[in-house]
Amino acid sequence: MASKTKTTYVCTDCGADYPRWQGQCNACQAWNTVSEMRLPPASKRQERLSGYAGQAAIQAQTLDQIDLKETQRLPSAFRELDRVLGGGFVQGSAILIGGSPGAGKSTLLLQTMCHWAQTATVLYVTGEESLQQVALRARRLALPLDRLQVLSQTSVEHVCDLALQMQPQVMVIDSIQVMHMADIQAAPGSVAQVRESAAALTRFAKQQQVTVIMVGHVTKEGALAGPKVLEHCIDCSLLLEGDNDGRFRLLRSQKNRFGAINELGVFVMSEQGLKEVSNPSAMFLSRSQGHASGSVVMAIWEGTRALLVELQALVDEAQGGQARRVAVGLDGNRMNLLLAVLNRHGGIMMGHQDVFVNVVAGVKVTEAGADLALLVALVASFRHVTIPRDTIIFGEVGLAGEIRPVPYGQERLQEARKHGFKRAVIAAGNVGQRAIEGLEVVGVHRLSEALEALF
Ligand code: TYD
Ligand code: MG
Repeated sequence: MASKTKTTYVCTDCGADYPRWQGQCNACQAWNTVSEMRLPPASKRQERLSGYAGQAAIQAQTLDQIDLKETQRLPSAFRELDRVLGGGFVQGSAILIGGSPGAGKSTLLLQTMCHWAQTATVLYVTGEESLQQVALRARRLALPLDRLQVLSQTSVEHVCDLALQMQPQVMVIDSIQVMHMADIQAAPGSVAQVRESAAALTRFAKQQQVTVIMVGHVTKEGALAGPKVLEHCIDCSLLLEGDNDGRFRLLRSQKNRFGAINELGVFVMSEQGLKEVSNPSAMFLSRSQGHASGSVVMAIWEGTRALLVELQALVDEAQGGQARRVAVGLDGNRMNLLLAVLNRHGGIMMGHQDVFVNVVAGVKVTEAGADLALLVALVASFRHVTIPRDTIIFGEVGLAGEIRPVPYGQERLQEARKHGFKRAVIAAGNVGQRAIEGLEVVGVHRLSEALEALF
């Protein structure tokens, strides 16, 4: 008797489930992203579920009975990577590394795993590139070749079977989009396959205490089962992004059950593969050439450290029609809001100006601590005034034109001092008790005060 397969409908963007097809996803509002997904009969799925289970826990415990031994973390050769993960790879966790094709995911993992394999059992599963391609790249990057175990395979069952024999501590799946399971009736690469494969590998990670790292390609349109559908089942989701000119690679944690999110790791892509940048502030600042009127350096807080990045603004007479507003690396709505504050509380109207802002080096700023720097950059460009290169600016701007303090003010100031800044214009609430040697700190309460101090 043929058992019934279960059909469900899943949004390929956010992974929300629906009992029947619909044109728009209720959860993320995207159109035409809900697609059909067939699951194998429940009994068969149950078998799979418990397939690698070992001793299933069927007894509840009170919290004080739980053994609190430290979560085992495995450090890699990349300190930047470990920091983004919250201090190394947690044993038995499932990690997703997303990024557009060519971002350097395979390179990063191959470099990490070749070194790691010297001290641990590591399995690298490649479903995209041939074994020759992987070996060739490893040789070209002069990596140690003698210990890393590689496997060319796209079947989740076969990979898990081999892993059961090998008992690796770390397993890489490059990429999750090409993996498939025999009892899912859908083409490889479809949402159904990707989602179920990732779920099976995550279960395998937990049950066998293997750290499983999955690579996921992100397409701009989110087409074909983007890693977003996987985010709820994995422990940690990292995104590797490139900047416009292609040299920097920023690794960011978007979800992390074992550490801070929005932690940023900085790498450069070179002829010898990825290299970590241990002092990104210096790197970002060294890139700015000359002295431009709309350029300001701000101190932002990324995860667990302060970063100095340059913000550029260009304000120019609009050429008829509606004035343009373009923000790269910043939130466009936030910029519009700040332009209104500038008009009302700074007395500067930019209604007939095109406004462009850009955060240098592909950094994406999400915190309100960049508000003041943004407004200063806009005014500087508007008035053709150059802000001195040794001035650092940060602070949140409220709707009433007040300048609010931001978290970790002292750490930001210390970072600025370390890089030779002489003056800081910040929220009065962030001015510390003790003076910082060599740094003149100007605390301001209102936008008008800040503009007075700088222009
Ligand atoms: P890759 O790791 O294959 O990207 P992904 O797995 O994310 O798709 O990276 C490929 C890109 O990196 C490619 O454009 C070439 C570049 N690259 C270098 O510049 N230097 C190197 O040493 C390597 C290995 C790649
Ligand atoms: Mg790749």
